[in-house]
Amino acid sequence: MEKTLVILKPSCLQRGLVGEVTKRFEQKGLRLAGMKMCQLTDDVLSEHYAHLAERPFFQLLKDAMMATPVIVCCFEGVGAVDVVRQMAGTTNGRKALPGTIRGDFSMSSQENIVHTSDSLENAAIELKRFFKDEEIFDYKSVSNAFIYASDEV
Ligand code: PPS
Repeated sequence: MEKTLVILKPSCLQRGLVGEVTKRFEQKGLRLAGMKMCQLTDDVLSEHYAHLAERPFFQLLKDAMMATPVIVCCFEGVGAVDVVRQMAGTTNGRKALPGTIRGDFSMSSQENIVHTSDSLENAAIELKRFFKDEEIFDYKSVSNAFIYASDEV
């Protein structure tokens, strides 16, 4: 099954939305495979957002991501990368559809509650960036038989 990275951003912690956001992913049927709080640094954010280095908001975005600790999560499921991205909604919270996390809780492109991996390839790279191998747990989910048909897993 696919694994993907979710970062609960400082806006999520400050707004008291950690439980609400993780509840949505759990209720959808995604398995929580890893979770920890950490203080991000300029170095790791420069690597994580390297593709945005030329954008005018690069430093603002990094500063916003260092404003408080964040919570990094690994969620697993069939098609998890796309499922999680759809649940997050489009980057700009003002444009994100109601029912999505950003559509329901964000008014901003920067203070937009969550980061989610945008492809399976990047998910693998990003999970390695934020988790040690032993921090990702492959325990069996007993509810899988009621989340997926046998030919879907
Ligand atoms: S873009 O503009 O297409 O590159 O945007 P996107 O790929 O969707 O967003 C990449 C991350 O950049 C953040 N972002 C911003 N931060 C501050 N100010 C502005 N204007 C801004 N626009 C986009 C956005 O929150 C994305 O962060 P992650 O952590 O990847 O969700």
